[in-house]
Amino acid sequence: MDQTHFELVVIGGGPGGYAAALYAASAGMSVALIEQDKVGGTCLHRGCIPAKEFLETAAVVRAVKSAGEFGVVVEPKALDWPLVLQRKQEVIDKLFGGVSQLLKGRKVTVLNGVGSLGANHTVNVRSDSGESATLTGDAVVLATGSVPRVIPGFEPGGPVVTSDEFFSIQQVPYRSVVIGGGAIGCEFASTLADLGSQVTMLEALPKILPGCDDDVTRVVGQSFKKKGIDIRTGVTVHGHTPNGVGGTVVSFGDGETAECELVVVSVGRRPLTGGVLEPGTAVQVTDRGHIDVDEHYRTHEPGVWAVGDVIDSPQLAHVAFAEGICVVKDVLGESPAPVDNGTVPWAIYCNPEVAFAGHSEASAKEAGFDVVTSRHRFAGNSRAIIIGETDGMVKVIAERGPDGRAGRILGVHMVGPWVTEQLSGGYLAVNWQATVDEVAEFLQPHPSLSELFGETVLSMTGRSLHG
Ligand code: NAI
Repeated sequence: MDQTHFELVVIGGGPGGYAAALYAASAGMSVALIEQDKVGGTCLHRGCIPAKEFLETAAVVRAVKSAGEFGVVVEPKALDWPLVLQRKQEVIDKLFGGVSQLLKGRKVTVLNGVGSLGANHTVNVRSDSGESATLTGDAVVLATGSVPRVIPGFEPGGPVVTSDEFFSIQQVPYRSVVIGGGAIGCEFASTLADLGSQVTMLEALPKILPGCDDDVTRVVGQSFKKKGIDIRTGVTVHGHTPNGVGGTVVSFGDGETAECELVVVSVGRRPLTGGVLEPGTAVQVTDRGHIDVDEHYRTHEPGVWAVGDVIDSPQLAHVAFAEGICVVKDVLGESPAPVDNGTVPWAIYCNPEVAFAGHSEASAKEAGFDVVTSRHRFAGNSRAIIIGETDGMVKVIAERGPDGRAGRILGVHMVGPWVTEQLSGGYLAVNWQATVDEVAEFLQPHPSLSELFGETVLSMTGRSLHG
């Protein structure tokens, strides 16, 4: 490698790191990106992408099962699991090829190895084969991501997996236990149940999807029950005892047990900083293990930024993208506005899907807002009836104006068919700080699923059509 000094050196090639690299290169900067595994990171190889790919297989299974309702007679089909795994890998490989080509096309120098930051913006790189290199950057971005948290006694191995191993399971288990009812737990439980596994979900808090509006969680809970998922909230897991035939018996709660062939541990992710910081850097790590940054993602060392799961911000790929862009603008002195973590779009792709932006009803009230809310169900929406997926609703939370009517939109919460693709209107409304009267003017195509958002907002003006 001839060049050892770059305008930007990025450690970590996941969504935060590769976004910073691509965006900087598109702005004309010279960039080096260091990745110990494959560019694309957790999202592409062990996270968002394979999770959605499995969920799509689950959706096809549901479509085949309900084909008769549409007058389409299909023979019962079996699941060819090796083919399912192959398709998942093909999707990953295609996207991996795409990101790699983009980096190459923009002349980003990609180094395969473990990067660590030393003094004076020095980045040392060690590859598996024992080679090493030393780079320097005018600016350095740390984007080393996160790894699954594990619970003592539930270390991965045998029937116990985290999201790191889940996408390589060799068969659909007859029975599964999912520990943790957050985003990952709900996506995996939904997939497994649709693929025919009997799922028990164990959540420590009083409700699954604790970050979501209560009405949304209720709908997901009801739909999950229809799929046969046994949701147990407010329970603690104690341990598990192998049953001698490849499975295990999980003990939880007040002396209860669940026997299964697969245990999925999805209790959150912790930032990955081990070995990243050498003596001599002023970068600091918080008590919770995140790299400490200010609102512009600047670390304690001038010229060094950190983005993505390694900092304390929503663990979402699109947030990491936005943080990467923001950092590059900051490096270029363009005074960017940082991401508003309170209003980012959230999308959880279980069936039914969940998507939201902004305050839930409870968080708006906690923040002191006097709120007006409106809920409309997909059960009355023509497109939902046509596609045969009527579970779900849209809920809009607005601030009560001085005239007593619904004013500024504070939150939009959706649960139901393809809502992850419908949120953008709601996200725009929340982030534009639009009022109900303004958004009620927007036309939505008819018939469409997105009409339900339009109807919900229109009804908040005090008049309505179908709602
Ligand atoms: P999470 O923090 O969303 O949920 C973990 C859940 O496990 C919580 O409900 C928590 O109360 C529960 N829990 C913790 N310890 C437990 C224990 N010992 N027993 C039972 N329950 C326990 O974490 P998750 O689902 O692992 O996801 C990690 C991160 O990745 C999150 O920030 C999530 O938002 C993000 N993610 C986002 C996705 C999306 O937006 N579609 C998809 C997947 C992950």
